[in-house]
Amino acid sequence: MDMVTSMPLEANSNGQILQAEAELFCHSFGYLKSMALQSVVKLRIPDVLHRYGGAASLPELLSTVPIHPNKLPYLPRLMKMLAAAGIFTAEDVPATVGDGEPTTLYHLNAVSRLLVDDASVNGGASMSPCVLLGTVPLFLGASLKLHEWLQSEEQATTETPFMLAHGGTLYGIGGRDSEFNTVFNKAMGASSEFVAALAVRECRDVFAGIKSLVDVAGGNGTTARTIAEAFPYVKCSVLDLPQVIQGISSHGTVEFVAGDMMEFVPPAEAVLLKYVLHNWSDQDCVKILTRCREAISHGEKAGKVIIIDTVVGSPSQQILESQVTMDLSMMMLFNGKVREEQNWHKIFLEAGFSHYKIHNVLGMRSLIEVQP
Ligand SMILES: C[S@@+](CC[C@H](N)C(=O)[O-])C[C@H]1O[C@@H](n2cnc3c(N)ncnc32)[C@H](O)[C@@H]1O
Repeated sequence: MDMVTSMPLEANSNGQILQAEAELFCHSFGYLKSMALQSVVKLRIPDVLHRYGGAASLPELLSTVPIHPNKLPYLPRLMKMLAAAGIFTAEDVPATVGDGEPTTLYHLNAVSRLLVDDASVNGGASMSPCVLLGTVPLFLGASLKLHEWLQSEEQATTETPFMLAHGGTLYGIGGRDSEFNTVFNKAMGASSEFVAALAVRECRDVFAGIKSLVDVAGGNGTTARTIAEAFPYVKCSVLDLPQVIQGISSHGTVEFVAGDMMEFVPPAEAVLLKYVLHNWSDQDCVKILTRCREAISHGEKAGKVIIIDTVVGSPSQQILESQVTMDLSMMMLFNGKVREEQNWHKIFLEAGFSHYKIHNVLGMRSLIEVQP
């Protein structure tokens, strides 16, 4: 019998094998990196470093971070691991004469600056709430079910890994869990602040000249508010489900409309769909986009749909990995998906649109302008 063998061991150098083994070890314990990151966010260590001017020595950290005195010797190990993972930058400082011990200075870097609760440092919004959502027990429980879900005969449309783990949908189970709801809403708000600020800065032309915009499934209105502040002549409204709209107090600049986007989208010159379509199947996206096309077709000239979502295929390895990780999380939580350009093209055509333009200026996500 012919056998197909993978590359024999001896073809790899010893160094390559040992490097690969170390890499595999880190991947297998990758959840420890997530949990160490969650711990420093809960202990607000990035804010402590910021208060020390962006860098603090171990003694400074140990005297400030709120941990039990019994655990002081353990904090340096957490910091060392996260510095090795690139989340902080460690600098060894030799002992100065008469000053005793050498120490380590931990600096904020580009990654941990995003966790500081100060807009002048994080560039728009702290990403700490997003770290807390990514590591929430309901999500971890769902991830433990991935392989069982892949082997189950149940249709993905009726059972997600999240449902297999928790016996209900994310919005159903999560909606009844006030602690989860708080974490979820804070993360959505932080991500919206960050992305909306970026979008109005990087894509001013896309919004220029628009007189009215409805943010479909716009949640608590953070994005709509940012757009209304940046472009005061745009009349902004938010459409979301009645149970979401009920809990929101009106902000003056933004109007809130309760409804189901599958049924009706209020007329406007522009419709925004930010991080909505990745929750839905192609068939549902075509339905939502069709309602949006009807909403922008009331004026003298057809308006546009502005989508902020992922277009998989970045040439940057880091961004590509974030895009396919987002895809897996959508699969696990909603049976949703993150799309490549050809998939976007197909659903735009099916919903009656003929033009689109992708602006790749928002890192792991893109802004897509779509017109009939
Ligand atoms: C992932 S959140 C995105 C929220 C917001 N666009 C953002 O970027 O923060 C999805 C939103 O879709 C809303 N939603 C779900 N089904 C909906 C429907 N049928 N009609 C309107 N909104 C809906 C949810 O209530 C939720 O606010």
